[in-house]
Amino acid sequence: MAVFLESGGRDRHRPSGRRTAAVQAYHQESHVVMSSETFVPPSPPSILPSTNELEQIRYALDQAAIVATTDVTGRIKYVNDKFCEISKYPRGALLGQDHRLLNSGYHSKAFIRELWHTIAHGRIWRGELRNRASDGSFYWVDTTIVPFLDERGKPWQYLAIRYDITARKLQEARLREQAALTSLGELAAVVAHEVRNPLAGIRGGVQLLGSLLPEDADGRDLIGDIVARIDSLNAVLSDLLVFARMRAPRRSEVDVAAFLSDLGAWMALDPAMRGVRLRVSGHADRTIDADADQLRLVFSNLLLNAAQAMNNDGTIDVVVDDDDAGGVVLTVTDRGPGIPEELRERVFEPFFTTRHRGTGLGLPTAKRVVEAHGGEISVLDAPGGGAAVRIHLPQRQA
Ligand SMILES: Nc1ncnc2c1ncn2[C@@H]1O[C@H](COP(=O)(O)OP(=O)(O)OP(=O)(O)O)[C@@H](O)[C@H]1O
Ligand SMILES: [Mg+2]
Repeated sequence: MAVFLESGGRDRHRPSGRRTAAVQAYHQESHVVMSSETFVPPSPPSILPSTNELEQIRYALDQAAIVATTDVTGRIKYVNDKFCEISKYPRGALLGQDHRLLNSGYHSKAFIRELWHTIAHGRIWRGELRNRASDGSFYWVDTTIVPFLDERGKPWQYLAIRYDITARKLQEARLREQAALTSLGELAAVVAHEVRNPLAGIRGGVQLLGSLLPEDADGRDLIGDIVARIDSLNAVLSDLLVFARMRAPRRSEVDVAAFLSDLGAWMALDPAMRGVRLRVSGHADRTIDADADQLRLVFSNLLLNAAQAMNNDGTIDVVVDDDDAGGVVLTVTDRGPGIPEELRERVFEPFFTTRHRGTGLGLPTAKRVVEAHGGEISVLDAPGGGAAVRIHLPQRQA
């Protein structure tokens, strides 16, 4: 950036005879002859902005946009304050680093290849990129990358001008999600009526058939199998219906300590959770304004996931913290294999599962409930390995 906007004499970094694509285009249009060694100002000279004007343009650009330059290998040479602000890196941690430092792993290799191919051939690239800040959060930027070309038309540095579009992207995602949920709600109504009821009939019929068979008949095992399969199909349908028909929260004062201790008691009774222990610590002596039934749904899903990740053997920690504004942060941590970084967003997509018999609705259901409470849910690394799911439930706005 500094390179582009500083004028000839003061520009120590600019290789002689090198021009930006814009300057080159300007000279081509005005038919100015340039030698490869010296820069001949076009006449009248007043057509080019003065140093002062250039500095003002730079100032204006810095106010409006996130600006950076990199060399042709992608090494960062300049960043403005807005760049540091959005990426949450101090300038010193960025300069000299490869721009890939900010890669979020979201875009496909083909997409990134196309970007590099475009700018390496001296063409301007425009698009929307998702980058990762130093604290692991993501941000979206509308991006224009302009290659600066030398006299042979080869890029020698890239200037990137970006605008923060994170809020718009989140809004778009929310609208898409809502549209998907509306269709899912309609589908759920059909499923409930057209699939669940006949399934109950089939189950009854199969059981009746079973009871007609003699005690030692071969087919009895098979009948048991069919009934078990129908039951697990029904469980999937129930999950789907709970997810699709989520109602608005019915809030009341929930005592966090009592809520978590009930949860521990429920866990102790559930055969699927035998072998795991729940340990609660932190500021559990709080009350929150929430829908206790919906929260129970959230935590039973999280605890079940944690127990499954630890093969039903070990301790699950729930830590309760204040958020300094009357809300709470609840973190559920296990000592299983953890959730790989590239899956930490995908696990909240409906029907995403890596488990053999999973439906992939546990975390999406938790997310819907938490967001209906105005909160946020995210997956982190647990300090000792394993997964940590963090839920922030803010104080309800009056
Ligand atoms: N504590 C955890 N440790 C490791 N991976 C986890 C953990 N919790 C969730 N996951 C991953 O996230 C995926 C989605 O979880 P989610 O609870 O939504 O669905 P599921 O457990 O697969 O199926 P179900 O609908 O029966 O809950 C899981 O398949 C698993 O890959
Ligand atoms: Mg689950």
